[in-house]
Amino acid sequence: MTTTEFTLTRSERPASDEVRAAVLAQPGFGKHFTDHMVSIDWTQDGGWHDARVEPYGPLQMDPASAVLHYGQEIFEGMKAYRRADGSVWTFRPDQNAKRMQRSAARLALPQIPEELFLEAIRRLVEVDEAWVPEGGEDSLYLRPFMIANEVFLGVRAAQTVRFMVIASPAGPYFAGGVEPVSIWLSREYNRAGRGGTGAAKCGGNYAASLLPTQIAVANGCAQVLFLNEAGTDLEELGGMNVVLVKADGTLVTPDSDSILDGVTRNSLLQLAEDDGHRIERRPVRLAEWRDGVADGSITEAFACGTAAVLTPIAALKTTEETIGDPEAPAGPVALALRARLTDIQYGRAEDPHGWMVRL
Ligand code: COI
Repeated sequence: MTTTEFTLTRSERPASDEVRAAVLAQPGFGKHFTDHMVSIDWTQDGGWHDARVEPYGPLQMDPASAVLHYGQEIFEGMKAYRRADGSVWTFRPDQNAKRMQRSAARLALPQIPEELFLEAIRRLVEVDEAWVPEGGEDSLYLRPFMIANEVFLGVRAAQTVRFMVIASPAGPYFAGGVEPVSIWLSREYNRAGRGGTGAAKCGGNYAASLLPTQIAVANGCAQVLFLNEAGTDLEELGGMNVVLVKADGTLVTPDSDSILDGVTRNSLLQLAEDDGHRIERRPVRLAEWRDGVADGSITEAFACGTAAVLTPIAALKTTEETIGDPEAPAGPVALALRARLTDIQYGRAEDPHGWMVRL
């Protein structure tokens, strides 16, 4: 199908201006949704077809739909930003489209062409533009996802699939905004293993992180940190990547086949490199973090992802020890990088890499 073959059915009951204004004044994260959604169907015989923008609402699904049983599902996270001049932009959407293709390959789902993915985003933001928050650092969070909706209980790749995009006005992911968080080291649970789905953005990885995250929260932490199978090297947090900052300005981040290739992480590292920081993508030992904090050679750590943007990590807690100071303020490198990125995203600074795309 070509990208122009979208149909539009407008919601007959869009939120009133008052209701929308109240949501945009305090959006929170992931709690409110816009008036419309995009759906595109795929069948093995017919490919992608029936692309439509339609009123947001519940899906009617057969209880035997494959996704409900075997979790054949992938998703993406992106944002639309409103600039001071009112225009609406998104950030590196090609990267999300490409990652969705990689996730699809791993989950035996069909490839959605990059152009169709981008057009779906454009169409939804066009019809729901009034939902893109103004000012501050709020944005419209976009959630493209793909589900296996074939009605079949046999365990094989589904032959009917749906791609959808929904949108949700979003404030900071963490309640404290840019306030540093403490994170909890998961010793007994791993997020992903060698050859597993760790690099794919699929629901199962996030489901696997929920129990460890509950344990993290019970220990006063905002997120959980997973190690590799051997329990020696850093992987990623429950829903975002991790970066350490050394005293000499080097940024160190795990290089692993079982973590998500974060668009925000890649972009922050590029900006840091532009600013003269050395970047090391390599296996990172837990012991390096502990020893580095103790001897002063590691000065900062941060979490990063589309939802979290960049959130400083004050301390890493384990059952035996606390690495870092939970009360420590945000570090200068983290704050400067966060500002560099968000200034580009909100059009307050030049976009040297041509990352922004007007919607
Ligand atoms: C994102 O950052 O967009 C994610 O999908 C992660 C999730 C914690 C919201």
